[in-house]
Amino acid sequence: MKICIGCDHGALELKHSVLEVLSEYKDIQVEDAGTFNKESVDYPDIAEKVCHKIKDGQAERGILMCGTGIGISMAANKVHGIRAALCSDVYSARMSREHNDANVLVMGGRVLGPGPASEIVRAWLDTEFSNGERHKRRIEKMMALENK
Ligand code: RB5
Repeated sequence: MKICIGCDHGALELKHSVLEVLSEYKDIQVEDAGTFNKESVDYPDIAEKVCHKIKDGQAERGILMCGTGIGISMAANKVHGIRAALCSDVYSARMSREHNDANVLVMGGRVLGPGPASEIVRAWLDTEFSNGERHKRRIEKMMALENK
């Protein structure tokens, strides 16, 4: 599986922790869409880079981070086909895969330390979509909102 990762200046350290976790997964290829230094950048630009990789079929999933995770998740969810879940706990991360088939995980670099964030990433990667009828129906309805 290919994962595209990106952050703004508010989550640079968190991105480094997440990259370490991803390196534990031998079946995951990672593309880092930046940012690469502390210089201020606009989080919608990073969300666009990562989410367009998914939309264009060049990555299956994404991980995005900004200071709170809020702005970058809002931006990500504007892109067609994206289901970005802002998670600050392991339970939500697991449910975002199992029930919502989230294709983008979002976290806040000023919200989470490296320990909790690493557990969230592992839970998100290790959980499959449940494929239950009701969840599929709800996701279809959710995605249909993009065209209304
Ligand atoms: C940048 O200072 C900050 O606004 C951004 O990282 C994020 O928290 C926005 O939601």
